[in-house]
Amino acid sequence: MRFARRAERIEPFYVMEVGKAAAQLAREHAHGDRPMVFLNIGEPDFSAPPLVQEAAARAVRDGRTQYTHALGLDDLRERIANWYAERFGIHVPARRIVVTAGASAALQLACLALIESGDEILMPDPSYPCNRQFVSVAEGRAVLVPTTAAERYQLSAAKVEEHWTDATRGVLLASPSNPTGTSIHPDELRRIHARVQDRGGITLLDEIYLGLSYDETFGHTGLAIDENVISINSFSKYFSMTGWRLGWIVAPDALVPVLERLAQNLFICPSTVAQHAALACFEAESIAEYERRRLEFRARRDMFIPALNDMGLRVPVMPDGAFYAWADCTQACEKLGVQGSWDFAFEVMKRAHVAVTPGRDFGHAQTSRFVRFSTANSMAHLQEAASRLAGLLH
Ligand SMILES: Cc1ncc(COP(=O)(O)O)c(C=O)c1O
Repeated sequence: MRFARRAERIEPFYVMEVGKAAAQLAREHAHGDRPMVFLNIGEPDFSAPPLVQEAAARAVRDGRTQYTHALGLDDLRERIANWYAERFGIHVPARRIVVTAGASAALQLACLALIESGDEILMPDPSYPCNRQFVSVAEGRAVLVPTTAAERYQLSAAKVEEHWTDATRGVLLASPSNPTGTSIHPDELRRIHARVQDRGGITLLDEIYLGLSYDETFGHTGLAIDENVISINSFSKYFSMTGWRLGWIVAPDALVPVLERLAQNLFICPSTVAQHAALACFEAESIAEYERRRLEFRARRDMFIPALNDMGLRVPVMPDGAFYAWADCTQACEKLGVQGSWDFAFEVMKRAHVAVTPGRDFGHAQTSRFVRFSTANSMAHLQEAASRLAGLLH
């Protein structure tokens, strides 16, 4: 059978592949005294809180399961708009919010709506691997721009300027980022957006981890800049609803009907049950629970990252959001006599029973030196992992 070139171009999502290897190893050692601690998983270890679960059950029981409007339930779009007002103090009209099947569908819709064949999109290296593939499926080309710790592993206006060519269509940024948990400083984001606007380009901003922000300096949405910033968000992370497949995009007015036409044809609508459930995310009781979880994520960061630094797995920039640690394993590789983060990850999985993600997925520049730890695991598991890793690397 012959497959389409666009499908052949898609690289495997190694996070998933490494996850499979970790699960296999975990099964083989299921009855040992050191069950695998999974620090390779990029999703909250919490499930949807009670009101959200009840709202889903009620929607199913009442038969409210037909297709919705392609843009999503009006009530949900309103509640998301209110959330921007209450949490970020900005006015985002509900008419600019398009509810989607996760940030993944939002990114896909945005790329299909805006990218022509051959268009180049600038992204930081390292960055979330699937974002490159959304560009590729839209026949565009993701251009990975190497970043440094001093830049918080984010693009700068100067780098955007330096790498902009006649083929460049815009930038795709994630703030806070996966795999680094670091954000773009709001002033730098303004400068980047201004450069992009000057060249008639697009600023796509993946803000899926924005709800999980731990630092006043960075916890602001790029939507505050102007209505040409396109922001992608999700119920997956802050709202702990990964498998429910629900997210949204905030688009300039002119883009909404284009997204609507694409969404009608490609998806009909996002999951109706998930949408009814998500209405309950914005109840005071649910928000209080989400805030407790955010503080828990922060406490885990504050315990785990110094522990990594102490054992020579240096995290060059303290994450200000999300639940990741991007750690340099050069010194640890030398200790274990292995070459590069891929082998290091498998060595750690086998010897310490701690599953981590090698950098390979996230770019090319320095990714063979880095591994990503996810701190979306209980404090007890994180402490156990830290102690096993320290034992291995002492
Ligand atoms: C930066 C980033 N963007 C988008 C996604 C996709 O999320 P969703 O579950 O909303 O499709 C992820 C998931 O890990 C992510 O880390």
